[in-house]
Amino acid sequence: MTDPVSMPHNHRRATCPFRPGPDLVELHQDPSLRRVPVPNSQLGEVEAVLVTREDDARAVLSDPRYEVGFAFDPDWSGPRSVMNQPGVLLNYDGDEHTRYRRMQSGAFTMKRIRALSGVIERIVEEHLDAVEKAGPGADLIRTFAEPLPLMVICELLGAPVEDRAAILERSSTASSIDTTLEVQQDNFAAMTGYMAGLVAAHRRDPGDNILGDLVRKHGAELTDDELVGMGLDVLVAGHGTLSGMIGLSALALLSHPEQLALLRDDADGSLSVGAVEELLRLLAVAPPLVRRAATDLSVDDQVIRAGEHVVISTLMANHGTGLTPSADELDLRRKPVPHLAFGYGRHQCVGQQLARLELRLALPALFRRFPDLRLAVPFEEIEYRTESLVLGVKRLPVTW
Ligand code: HEM
Repeated sequence: MTDPVSMPHNHRRATCPFRPGPDLVELHQDPSLRRVPVPNSQLGEVEAVLVTREDDARAVLSDPRYEVGFAFDPDWSGPRSVMNQPGVLLNYDGDEHTRYRRMQSGAFTMKRIRALSGVIERIVEEHLDAVEKAGPGADLIRTFAEPLPLMVICELLGAPVEDRAAILERSSTASSIDTTLEVQQDNFAAMTGYMAGLVAAHRRDPGDNILGDLVRKHGAELTDDELVGMGLDVLVAGHGTLSGMIGLSALALLSHPEQLALLRDDADGSLSVGAVEELLRLLAVAPPLVRRAATDLSVDDQVIRAGEHVVISTLMANHGTGLTPSADELDLRRKPVPHLAFGYGRHQCVGQQLARLELRLALPALFRRFPDLRLAVPFEEIEYRTESLVLGVKRLPVTW
């Protein structure tokens, strides 16, 4: 068995991925701000001020004097990585970020997302057909949680479906905390090479998808390199997070049968919006968020010096609120509470509406297709991703 620890400052209780670990809770209860080490495959380890309270987290994330973690260096002449790739939103602050962000969010319009709805429904049904045919019994991660968001990303980028195995491998390596800088750089070179091919194809003939939209609307003002960065944003940010959420949500529901029944029997779909928000809040699968103080600042009247990093535990912030029933409990009927699963402020997730749509379509469809779905192994034997920045289940053996 592996413990659902994942990233150090969003770590869970051993054997329970739905609750923050006891040492994280202890740090949360300590009124003084603590400095903690943050691993980074590019920079080694940095020390950062840990923020676990929701209001402090929102204050940091909405204050432009906290910049994105590891500043983008336009004059960088060493090997490329995601941190010095033009077009990647999390590399920018201020006006530069606003410029790229407008273009990218313009491609994620509600119209485009709604148009994807039918495509996602088809992909969900095709995968459920395959699971049903091969069963009874399946690993829900390999057959459903992993391929589903990948297929949607292929649609978003106009990537040939036969490339998905290579894309999967590359995006998993990119989210790994268990690799060397060299491996990351080689992987990054392969990903940028692949994306450059897609960008070139869209330059010749812009497709009816997000990358095609970016080329059509902004192709004249963006370099190929910037378009490559924007494509990588979708690929890297949109896969591990969603596959993690689908797998972990399925586990949360399978281990709370009364909650699962609510979602499965929700004939008019009225529960799904709140249910997905509750799962996003409870699970907070994304890594903790890192910022750096551009000047001397304070949180809770305690000084953060210019140049110091801050790490925000979104999991603890989502669980530290005084909710009834307790924030550690899954309650699909809870009145949706604001949460930090998609971050907050200027860098808040650009793909959040797409993520919500995929979750709202995938989860009820799974439990309606297999009304008797249950874990095929004891809960305690479930294995979690330990090598990834994003929390997820490694294998989810189920039967019906
Ligand atoms: C359940 C799934 C998802 C979760 C939990 C999630 C979580 C997050 C979080 C927490 C951030 C903020 C990072 C920060 O402030 O440092 C973020 C940003 C971002 N996300 Fe997501 N995300 C998800 C799905 C997606 C999808 C599907 C896409 C694209 C297709 C996407 C693209 C992005 C991008 C480009 C950013 C950077 C935005 C910026 O810097 O302005 N995400 N996401």
